[in-house]
Amino acid sequence: MCGIVGYVGNQSVVDILLDGLEQLEYRGYDSAGVALQTPDKLDVYKAVGKLCNLREELKHHTDETRKAIMGIGHIRWATHGAPTVLNAHPHTCNCGNLVVVHNGIVENYKELRELLTAKGCVFKTQTDTEVVAHLIAQKYALSKDLTEAVRLAVKDLKGAYALCVMHKEEKNKLVGTKLNAPLLIGVGEKENFFASDVPAIIKHTKKAVYLEDGEIATLTKDTYSVIDSDGNVVEKKVEMLPWEPVALSKMGYKHFMLKEIHEQPDVIRNILTGKLHTPQDNVILNEVKLTREHLKNLNRIQIIACGTSLHAAMIGKYLIETLCGIAVDVEASSEYIYRRTVTDEHTLVIGVSQSGETADTLTAIKQAKAKGSHILIITNRPDSAMAREADSLVPVNAGIEVSVAATKSYIAQLVSFYLLAIYMAEIKESANEYLLLSLKTDLMILPQKIEQILSHKEEIQKCAKIYSGTKDFIYIARGINYPTALEGALKLKEISYINATGYPAGELKHGPIAMLDETMPVLSILMKGCVYEKLLSNSEEAKARNARMIALTNSEDEKLNDLFDFIIRVPDVQDLLSPILAIVPLQLLAYYIAEFLGKDVDQPRNLAKSVTVE
Ligand code: AGP
Repeated sequence: MCGIVGYVGNQSVVDILLDGLEQLEYRGYDSAGVALQTPDKLDVYKAVGKLCNLREELKHHTDETRKAIMGIGHIRWATHGAPTVLNAHPHTCNCGNLVVVHNGIVENYKELRELLTAKGCVFKTQTDTEVVAHLIAQKYALSKDLTEAVRLAVKDLKGAYALCVMHKEEKNKLVGTKLNAPLLIGVGEKENFFASDVPAIIKHTKKAVYLEDGEIATLTKDTYSVIDSDGNVVEKKVEMLPWEPVALSKMGYKHFMLKEIHEQPDVIRNILTGKLHTPQDNVILNEVKLTREHLKNLNRIQIIACGTSLHAAMIGKYLIETLCGIAVDVEASSEYIYRRTVTDEHTLVIGVSQSGETADTLTAIKQAKAKGSHILIITNRPDSAMAREADSLVPVNAGIEVSVAATKSYIAQLVSFYLLAIYMAEIKESANEYLLLSLKTDLMILPQKIEQILSHKEEIQKCAKIYSGTKDFIYIARGINYPTALEGALKLKEISYINATGYPAGELKHGPIAMLDETMPVLSILMKGCVYEKLLSNSEEAKARNARMIALTNSEDEKLNDLFDFIIRVPDVQDLLSPILAIVPLQLLAYYIAEFLGKDVDQPRNLAKSVTVE
C-alpha cells in the first residue's frame, strides 16, 4: 500500500528518489517524504498530499539536497495515523541519527511503544513505524552496526513490513529487510537501489534481486550482501526484469486506464501465444504441475481472491463447473482466512491476484498450503510473493498495469480461466469436443471483436455524458455475466465514486426494485443466450418503474429500442465467451463518466493498486 525507494550511488539522489516514488504513486499517495544523507548531514523532508507537493518542498532546499550521496523515500497510504506531515515517512529515532521508511503494519506496535516509552523514548507521531525507528536505534546503540541492529530489532516485530534504514554514522550504507511485504534490490553499475516494486527502478537497471521474508540486505554503491535472520550469508540470484520502461508511459493516452483498456486486444493475443497454437490443438499450460491422475480425481476446487480478481474467479467457477463438472467454491480472501475452511490435500485451491501481493489472498493461500492443498496461482506478477507459494502457476502476462483500476489484468485473468477450464476438460475428457473447438476458435478471434468495440467508443462517451450526473447506478445480469455486472459496478464506483451496484437480475424483485424511479439508471447486460428472455422481462419490470434503461447487448432485436433509452451494442459472441466482450464497454463507460466528472482516474481517492495489508 505504500511505496519505498532507496538509492546509493553517483546520480542525483533526489531525482532518483522522486522519480522512483512517482512510479510507485499507484501504491498510495496521501503523503510522501525523503531522507537524504549528505557528507555532513542527515536531513528529512516531507509533504502531505500528492508527490508534487514534496517536489515543491524540496525546491526550497536545493543547496543542501544536491549534496546527497544516498537516500530513502516513501509514498504513503495511511494505515495508522492520519495523512499529515508529522505522520509521513521517513521516521527517526529521538536523536535523529537513524531514519526508516516502512510499508506494512506492525501489529504489536502498541506494546512495543509502551516498552520503548518506559526506556525513555519520546514518540512524536501516531504511526506504528516510529516504533521501528526507536527499536533499531536501541539495538544500534549496542551493536554500532546498522545491519546487525536491523537484524536484531525485527525479531521483535509482528505483522508485515518492508523496511529501508539509514544511519548518520554509516554514510555509505543502506539496509533493507522484509516480512509479508515486497522489497527488491535493483543492481546497478556503481549504484544500487531498494524498491517496493519494479517500476521504481526499471529505468535504471533490469537486474533485480528479490528478498525473501526475514532476509536483511546491505547496499553500498559498489556492493550488496544478504543475510538471513540468523546472520548467515545468503547467496541470491540476480534476475533480469522482463519489462521495458515504455510500459510506464501513457503513450499519448490521457490516462493509463484508457491506455490499458486499449491494450486488451494485444493482451489476449499475448496470452494465447504459446498456450493455444490452433483451435485443433490442446491448450498448453507448462507451469500447471497437476498430474493427469490428480486432475482426473479432483473433486473440489476453491477459488480465493479480492475485488476485481474475485469477479474473475466467479466467472472461472462457471467455466470450470460447465466444462469439467467439478464443484467450485468462490470466496473473498478476507472471509476465507477467518473461518474454518474444509480444505485438504484433495482440494485444488486457486488464488487469483493481479499484483500477487494482496495480503488477504496471500494469507489465505498460505493457510490452504499448510492444509496440504495443491496451490495454483493466476497472477500478472510471476515475481510476486504469491507466485513463490505456488505449486502451479498461470502467469497472465498482461504487462505492468499502472492504473489502480484493474482492466487489462482482469481480461487477462478471464482468458486464463478459459484456458485453464479447457485444459482441465481436455485432460478429464469432460466436455463435448465440438464445444471446446468452438470455444478455442472464438477465443482466437476475440481480439478483433474488442477492437471493434474500441473503434466505436464515441457511442459510449455519449452514454457517459448522459448519465454522468447520476448519484446511483444499477447493473443487472444473469448467468455467466452476473460477475460482469459486479465488475462493471466496481469500475464505476472506484473511479467516479458513484454508488453503483451489480445485482443478479432475478434478485431485483426481492428488494432492490424498491429503489427504482425516474432518477435511477439500470444497465442490463443483455447478451444472447439461455437467460436472454428472462433478463428481458427483468428489464421490462424495471422499465415499468420508470427506471432509466440502458442495454449492453449483441442482439439486433428491434423491440429493444422501445424498452431502452440507450443501447450499447457489441459484436456477436457465444454466451460462454460473452463476459470477455461485455466488460470492455463497461470499463469505457466508467472511464468516460469519471473523466467527465474530472476525477483522478488513475489514482482514485482512498485506493491503492496493491493492498498489502489486511
Ligand atoms: C480493482 O479495480 C481494484 N483496484 C481492486 O479491487 C483489486 O482488484 C483488488 O485489490 C485485488 O487486487 P489483486 O488482484 O492484486 O489481488
